[in-house]
Amino acid sequence: MTINIKQCTLEDSRILKEISYETFNETFKDQNSPENMTTYLERAFNLEQLEKELSNISSQFFFVYFNNEVAGYLKVNTNDAQSEEMGDESLEIERIYIKNKFQKHGLGKYLFNKAMEIAMERHKKKIWLGVWEKNENAISFYKKMGFVQTGAHSFYMGDEEQMDFIMTKTLI
Ligand SMILES: CC(C)(COP(=O)(O)OP(=O)(O)OC[C@H]1O[C@@H](n2cnc3c(N)ncnc32)[C@H](O)[C@@H]1OP(=O)(O)O)[C@@H](O)C(=O)NCCC(=O)NCCS
Repeated sequence: MTINIKQCTLEDSRILKEISYETFNETFKDQNSPENMTTYLERAFNLEQLEKELSNISSQFFFVYFNNEVAGYLKVNTNDAQSEEMGDESLEIERIYIKNKFQKHGLGKYLFNKAMEIAMERHKKKIWLGVWEKNENAISFYKKMGFVQTGAHSFYMGDEEQMDFIMTKTLI
């Protein structure tokens, strides 16, 4: 069993689109309407949008490979790329997604450790993220990684307003 990680470049936009669609569908399709899913997927993961995000120097994407197959990805944001105004001393984990068939093999933790490494290298004081209040699996994982709930914000899935918990891990 080999695990590898690679930072994504603009050339990876199509693979990024594929894995973004696949993992978002697997995670949320059972709890959301097909219309809201389609609206969200087309807005968040169209090629133009992903290429814009890949070109932002304050965002980084990584693929994690399990036995040379792309198994998941991570997106971290700093500075103005963060989806809330958290300041320059914070790093946001905006997305951490492992394909269903590769979950519970330590890959989520591997990507989380990558985010920690970046945060430490850049002398950040905290890591934060937003997670849907109904995503119990991810909330349990984040608690295991040492995050605590520090707030909430609303979020639109298509035309439905949903609640995200803000969870934070302090680094020093
Ligand atoms: C949440 C997610 C990233 C976790 O990744 P994973 O690869 O399955 O988790 P890992 O195997 O790396 O687990 C790391 C540790 O967390 C624990 N853990 C994982 N999922 C857990 C859960 N639901 N509840 C409690 N502990 C959990 C593991 O037991 C492991 O513990 P250990 O370090 O003591 O061995 C993954 O389930 C996922 O991609 N889910 C779908 C997408 C998603 O919801 N992303 C978050 C959007 S905000």
